[in-house]
Amino acid sequence: MADTRSSIHGQWSSRWAFILAATGSAVGLGNIWRFPYLAGENGGGAFVLVYLFFVFVVGIPIMMAEILIGRRGRQSPINTMRTLAEEEGLGRYWSLLGWMGVFAGFIILSYYSVIAGWTIAYIFRTGTGMFDNVNAELSASIFSNLISDPEKLLVWHTTFMMMTILVVARGVKSGLEKAVRFLMPALFFLLLLMVGYAMSTEKFMDGLSYLFIPDFVALAKKDLFADVFLPALGQAFFSLSLGMGAIMVYGSYLSNKSSIASTSISIALADTSVAILAGIAIFPIVFTYGIEPSGGPGLIFISLPIAFGQMPYGTVFGCLFFLLLAFAAWTSAISLLEPAVTWLVENRNINRIKATGIAGMIAWTLGVVTVLSFNHWAFSFTFAGSLKENGLFDMMDILTSNIMLPLGGLLVAIFASWLMSRKSTIDELGMGDGIIYRLWLFAVRYIAPLGVIMIFLNAIGLFKLLGLSN
Ligand code: TRP
Repeated sequence: MADTRSSIHGQWSSRWAFILAATGSAVGLGNIWRFPYLAGENGGGAFVLVYLFFVFVVGIPIMMAEILIGRRGRQSPINTMRTLAEEEGLGRYWSLLGWMGVFAGFIILSYYSVIAGWTIAYIFRTGTGMFDNVNAELSASIFSNLISDPEKLLVWHTTFMMMTILVVARGVKSGLEKAVRFLMPALFFLLLLMVGYAMSTEKFMDGLSYLFIPDFVALAKKDLFADVFLPALGQAFFSLSLGMGAIMVYGSYLSNKSSIASTSISIALADTSVAILAGIAIFPIVFTYGIEPSGGPGLIFISLPIAFGQMPYGTVFGCLFFLLLAFAAWTSAISLLEPAVTWLVENRNINRIKATGIAGMIAWTLGVVTVLSFNHWAFSFTFAGSLKENGLFDMMDILTSNIMLPLGGLLVAIFASWLMSRKSTIDELGMGDGIIYRLWLFAVRYIAPLGVIMIFLNAIGLFKLLGLSN
């Protein structure tokens, strides 16, 4: 039956198109903006190694599970979960997993769009030579000028959300392929250029060792689970676009012939290398110019422009860099909206254009909360051993990445490995029941669920209450 099902929303033109789209979804602000600032807040090396471990051991198997579920159901995540649960003789309430994803998607998109707005603002700031020879202090004040002005933030947030709505309304296929095929390699190339610049700075080695060598002295002061494992797990989900149905809905447009395993590995490798390159480019600059690595979400917006202000043709490269980053954010944002839109089209009997307008408006409205988090509504609190200064924005980010996405991933893993029949998953993965299948099954049955549950329990201190940890 699954073989004959087809999506009313269309299909990718090839496996390559799917890889491009999913990579476009994965590579975005998460890699270049979020990864470095979290690594900086959570102590560098240890965070990075744990993050890499999670990408390969938890992330890739769950990505495979999401794609296989999506392709088998071929509908919006909500309806896919309901259909497959019924097919496997389970309750309809599995559709709640899809609902949680839609909610997480709205929240993430709402703040993602505001940050993407900063990126657009920086295309103009770098392009007009505003950073020529600036020092760290001046760069920081240019940044705080931007985020303390809600009107500016609102303009760019609105611009970015409209761009996102435009693409999703036309259907995620058209245009996306071209954007990703040319712009991703260009972004990659510019990152390499930045790494080259970082190599020429005084503190290149300091940056590298900060990024890759765990600082055990600093670690001893931290709560390993709450301060390192949980944010690293959250970042693995965020960066790979997992846990809310984005990859599931993209999987629903994938043809039956394509291999899910090798596709997932390629996407994860591309995504991870972009994040690592961004880290290598940024931390040497951070140390050379005396910027505080734990400074939070402004990290790349303060550090990189200083480098652009120093290097030859920095105005051109800086402008281009933020332009490409905005494109990368764009191809990610559309995947955050797509699950909600497909559901509206399927269940509310409205066309895609109207559905996208409605969903986009909801996310835009919620985005106003983030706009105000950096100025009028700002307050601070401590989480994961670091000071979070942008109240509601930080809370929404923590709630989604550290809780909702891992929880979504956990349920996906349980559904695919414990509840779907072996016949269904073997049939869908299409690689027989050999060693790779068994490794995958083991990872989604045991490693991913136990990992997520252990980290959750420890992070909320339950083990402490029970006296099981020191
Ligand atoms: N992965 C994207 C990034 O790193 C953001 C993103 C897109 C996302 N779709 C998602 C995050 C779904 C979580 C879930 O920028």
